Amino acid sequence: MATLAQRHILLVVTGGIAAYKAPDLVRRLRDAGATVRVAMTPAATKFVRPLTFQAVSGVSVHVDLFDPGAEAAMGHIELARWADLVVVAPASADFIARLAHGLADDLPSTLCLATAAPILVAPAMNRLMWAHAATQANVAVLRARGVRFVGPDEGEQACGETGAGRMAEPPAIVVAALCAQGGDALAGLRVLLTAGPTQEPIDPVRFITNRSSGKMGYAVAAAARDAGARVTLITGPTRLVAPAGCEVVAVTTAQDMLDAVLARVADCDIFIASAAVADYTIATPAPHKVKKAGTALTLTLTPTPDILRTVATRAGAPFTVGFAAETERLAEHARGKLTSKSLNMIAANLVGRVGTGFESDDNELSVFWKGGERQLGKAAKQALARDLVAIIAERYRAEAVHSE
Ligand code: C5P
Repeated sequence: MATLAQRHILLVVTGGIAAYKAPDLVRRLRDAGATVRVAMTPAATKFVRPLTFQAVSGVSVHVDLFDPGAEAAMGHIELARWADLVVVAPASADFIARLAHGLADDLPSTLCLATAAPILVAPAMNRLMWAHAATQANVAVLRARGVRFVGPDEGEQACGETGAGRMAEPPAIVVAALCAQGGDALAGLRVLLTAGPTQEPIDPVRFITNRSSGKMGYAVAAAARDAGARVTLITGPTRLVAPAGCEVVAVTTAQDMLDAVLARVADCDIFIASAAVADYTIATPAPHKVKKAGTALTLTLTPTPDILRTVATRAGAPFTVGFAAETERLAEHARGKLTSKSLNMIAANLVGRVGTGFESDDNELSVFWKGGERQLGKAAKQALARDLVAIIAERYRAEAVHSE
């Protein structure tokens, strides 16, 4: 399994409110096995004290280009050489501009210029600053030079506006760091995923279905693929274009979906059930179109198989992730399903509100596992999918370590 073991990561923290998330990032990078040193711009020290980073990284923090003490301990050129990867998080618009122009007027910019290591940038700024032609031109220059970017995400900003500019969440930055080190977070793993609704036929022209668009599941499939997994997507009928590079199996009914899953589950490491599987199917679909009779029509519905539970309770079950769409008492219902369906993890969201959930481009997830949980605030489904995949990779690794 890919980790950051023995990797030297130099974290550059620049001035922005998202700097408050950087200590958490240090902790996660260290959890993934990396040795972390932190360099801060003077503006960054206005948001978080160097002492905080010293406490979480276990070593002194580099702030001043001309500090003789720090230079004596590890000179800036030595530090630039020490790094296997430079992560700039958060990266302000100003720092991105200085990086693009090769300025070296403080310690972090000098380190970025003096290093031969790959650079990963996690931008964080107001949405208009991010969208500005100057920033986008700087980003294009840096990308062309091989600098990698993670985020920014869309969502609510510290300034009260909503749009693209939020720093990617620390788990997503860890995954991007793994990718930048040639070790994708899910490299070598096989992910089997269900998505979309199912259709249960009443007769040859009618069926029962639900409002699932499949967007969340398709976004998770793409994010797992980007994290290096081999992905098989078993999908009910949707209007979406299947993500390139994934094996796609199209199915219609819950029973078809179960058959397709069971035919492949023995070969997978991670199973993610994002499909909105119909809970009931028509006991005996009519062979011909049902005629209008002007009287009440009774349909007998029988329960469908629970695909997720079937997989999770198999001997040698893969790491299993379920979804839960709830209209109330989210945590309680989600934790209930985590236990009753024997899952490793469940991602839950509230439905029945405008702007998130079914059919929407945005969502908001609460992720639960035995002994932990994480909230992923409202964001585009693609950004959420990336964060969710990062958490899955983290938990998969953690549980693999436990069962060794
Ligand atoms: O019990 P509930 O339908 O709320 O559980 C939702 C989770 O179970 C989702 O992950 C969904 O994909 C999965 N599921 C399934 N087969 C069913 C019903 C739900 O895999 N028949």
